[in-house]
Amino acid sequence: MCGIVGYIGFKDVKEIILRGLEKLEYRGYDSAGIAVAYNNNIYICKEKGRIYSLRESIDRSITGYLGIGHTRWATHGEPNKTNSHPHQSSTGRFTLVHNGIIENEEELKNKYLQGVKLNSDTDTEIIVQLIEKFVNEGEPVDLAIRHTMSELKGSYALAIIDKEDMDTLYGAKNKTPLLAGKGDGFNMLSSDAMAMIDYTNLFYEIKDKEFLKVTKDSIEIFTISGEKVTRKPYKADIDTIDTEKGTYPHYMLKEIEEQPFVIRKIISEYTDENGNIKISPDILQDVRSCNKVYIIACGTSYHAGLIGKQFFEKISKKPTEVVIASEFIYNMPLLSEKPMFMFISQSGETADCISVLSKIKDMGYKTLTLTNVKGSTLYREVDHTLLLHAGPEIAVASTKAYTAQIAVLAILASSIDNRVNIDVCKELSIIANVMESLCSDKEKYKSLAEKYLVNSRNCFYIGRSMDYHVCLEASLKLKEISYIQTEGFPAGELKHGTIALIEKNTPVIGIITQEKINLNTRSNIREVEARGAATMIISMKKVSQDTDAIVIDNVNELLSPLVAIIPAQYLAYYAALLKGCDIDKPRNLAKSVTVE
Ligand code: G6P
Repeated sequence: MCGIVGYIGFKDVKEIILRGLEKLEYRGYDSAGIAVAYNNNIYICKEKGRIYSLRESIDRSITGYLGIGHTRWATHGEPNKTNSHPHQSSTGRFTLVHNGIIENEEELKNKYLQGVKLNSDTDTEIIVQLIEKFVNEGEPVDLAIRHTMSELKGSYALAIIDKEDMDTLYGAKNKTPLLAGKGDGFNMLSSDAMAMIDYTNLFYEIKDKEFLKVTKDSIEIFTISGEKVTRKPYKADIDTIDTEKGTYPHYMLKEIEEQPFVIRKIISEYTDENGNIKISPDILQDVRSCNKVYIIACGTSYHAGLIGKQFFEKISKKPTEVVIASEFIYNMPLLSEKPMFMFISQSGETADCISVLSKIKDMGYKTLTLTNVKGSTLYREVDHTLLLHAGPEIAVASTKAYTAQIAVLAILASSIDNRVNIDVCKELSIIANVMESLCSDKEKYKSLAEKYLVNSRNCFYIGRSMDYHVCLEASLKLKEISYIQTEGFPAGELKHGTIALIEKNTPVIGIITQEKINLNTRSNIREVEARGAATMIISMKKVSQDTDAIVIDNVNELLSPLVAIIPAQYLAYYAALLKGCDIDKPRNLAKSVTVE
C-alpha cells in the first residue's frame, strides 16, 4: 500500500528517494512521485505506473538535498498523474506526501476550504491546504501542522516540505506506520525501514499523533500538543542482502526456496542449547490460562491461522476460533469467558488487525502477535510477541511467511500442553529436508503448470480436513498472481452445488496427505473426472498412487501443510510466469494493507 520516503542531508536526494521508493514497491502501488527542494524552489515529478517510468521522467539536472517521495495505491480518485503525490498547497509553499485515509475530508472542505480550488480528487490535498490556511492565518508552521493533525480523522503518515524553510523536513503519524532513520549528517523518514536500510539501521519509532521536525543533524519528536518527546533509537537487524533478489528472476521464487532455511532458523531461534523449546513463560502462562484462543488475521495469515487452530485443538486440546479481522470488527462472535487473542500478521501493520486489537485492548483481554516485522504496530501494541524469523518477504504473494507462521504456531501449541506425543522441532527438521527436495523439482512444476493451468479460465483445489485448509492457500496463490479464478473447496462439499461449474478440461487439483481421508478425496476426484475435469493429485508418499502427479516424502500428518503448499506455490509461480504476469507485484494488490 502507499509508501513514503523523505531525506534531508548532504547527498543529492533524487537517487536516495527513488531507491527508497523501489524498496517500497513490494507494498503495492499504482503511481509514484517525488518532490525535490532546490534553489528556493520545489521540483515535482509524478508518473502513473511503475517507478522506472518516474525514473525516466525525472529532470536529471535538478540537484537538491531535501526531498520526499511516494508510492500511491489509489483509494480516493483514480490512479493518474494528478492524483498521485506529492500534493501542493495553493501557493506552492507546502508540499506533502501522505499514506493513509482521511475520513472527514468533506467536513473539513466545507468548514475550512470553501474558497480554495482543489486540483485532485484525493483526501490528501485537504491536509496540505489546511496547513497553508492555518499558516496564512498567522500560525507558525509547527503549530499549523499540529493544528491540522488535530482536525484530521483517520490515518496518516506525512512527510512535508516548506519552501520557505529548506533546512527542515516535517513528519506526522496516526494509525499508519512511520519511522525516522538517524544518519550521520543526514536523516530520513519512511513508512518502512526497508526504504532506509541501505543508509542507516538506527530508527526512531514514531507513535500515533506525534509530530516530527527533522534537520540533517537532528530528529525532534513532539506530541500533538507540542511537548517534546525523549526517545532512544533502536537498531534494526535487517541485512541489506536479504532485501535483494540476487540471482533469482523474482522475489517470489527466492522466497519459496528460502523456506527450508526459514524452518531451520525457527528451530534454532525457538530451542535452547539442549534442544528444549524456548518460549517465554509469561506467554505460556497466558495461553494456558485462557479458555479459548481467538486467532485474528487476514489473507494468507488467516489461512495459517486455520492450520494453527488444528494444532491448538489437536496437540494441546485448547479450543480455538479463527476469525477474519475485517469480519470480527463489525460482527464479533460471542466470546468465551476467558479469551486470549492471537494476531497473525506477516507485516504487523494490517489495518484490519490493528482495528480489532484496539477494540480488544479496550476490553482488557490478553493479546499475542505472531509477526515477521520487529517494531511493527502489532508487535509493539500487544502483551506478547513471537517473531517469525522469515527474513524480509518482498513478493506480494506470501510464501515463506505462511510456512513460518505455521511452524511457530506448531511450536507454541506443542509447548502449551503436549497431549499428543509429537516432537515438533524434530518433525520440523525433517520437514526442512523434504521442502528442500521439493524445491529441486522445478521443471516438473513448470510443465504441470503449462499442461493444466496456463490456458485455463478457472481452477479448483480440493481436499479434506487439513488438506482443505492448504487448498484455500494454494488457490489464493494461484489467483493472486496468475489471475486464474481459483477456488479452494472441501472435496466432499463439491457435489452440493459447485460441481455444476466443472466442464471439459476444468483443472481440479486434489491435495491428499491424510490417511483417513485418502479414499474419500480420491472418490471426489473421480466424480469430477467423470464430468470432464482435468485432474491432478498432489499426495504424500504413504497415501500415493502411481498416477499422482506430485508425490511428497512422508512427514508427520499434522504438519503436512508445510510441505503440501510448496508444489502449489511453484504451480502458481510458473502459471504466472508462463502467462507473462507481473509475479512480484500483481495487479491491484498490496503487500501491507494499511487501510481498512
Ligand atoms: C495482503 C497481502 C496478503 C497478506 C494479507 C495479510 O492482502 O497481499 O499476502 O496475506 O495482506 O497481511 P499480513 O501482513 O497481516 O499477514
